[in-house]
Amino acid sequence: MNYFGYVRLIHAVLPHMRERDAGIIHNVSSGAGLVGHPGLSGYASTKGAIEALVRSLRLELRHESVACTVMHPPLSNTRSTAELGYPESLLSDPADVGRKLAGKIESKEPVIHANWKTKLGLAVSKRVPYLVRKGTERFVEPAE
Ligand SMILES: NC(=O)c1ccc[n+]([C@@H]2O[C@H](COP(=O)([O-])OP(=O)(O)OC[C@H]3O[C@@H](n4cnc5c(N)ncnc54)[C@H](OP(=O)(O)O)[C@@H]3O)[C@@H](O)[C@H]2O)c1
Repeated sequence: MNYFGYVRLIHAVLPHMRERDAGIIHNVSSGAGLVGHPGLSGYASTKGAIEALVRSLRLELRHESVACTVMHPPLSNTRSTAELGYPESLLSDPADVGRKLAGKIESKEPVIHANWKTKLGLAVSKRVPYLVRKGTERFVEPAE
């Protein structure tokens, strides 16, 4: 569902958007898909696949008025992060994140971040993998 769910939904809505010559498809990605995360190799792989899917789709749609984006929420206090071991102080409030992303719903930027901190954090993490390793090592138990 994490990857093929996106593919199926895009298949379902894209023909209608092309017919109307308008539309934006937002796909929720994750920093894990860009920089990896210990213990989440399966999840990170699906998010990396979504990144590549959207980049390719944007090229295919470059002459059309339908946009395709990836949205990057920050690390947030939701069910899926509950067992990762991060202290609550590091986790964003999901309602706030949702509001911020909803505020960007009309954006056709290729990559949409909930806030500038996420944008900066991901840009730095991609260039300095050492920081990702040190950051996750502090909180996440090594995989068995
Ligand atoms: N939380 C973070 O720190 C974080 C960071 C970056 C990106 N993201 C991304 O943000 C999105 C939301 O994450 P989240 O943390 O809010 O997750 P979450 O709290 O675990 O919620 C996941 C949601 O997906 C639904 N779901 C799960 N499996 C499903 C299935 N097979 N069919 C239909 N619905 C299903 C769940 O429905 P039920 O309520 O019915 O179980 C739930 O509403 C995800 O794409 C995640 O990768 C999250």
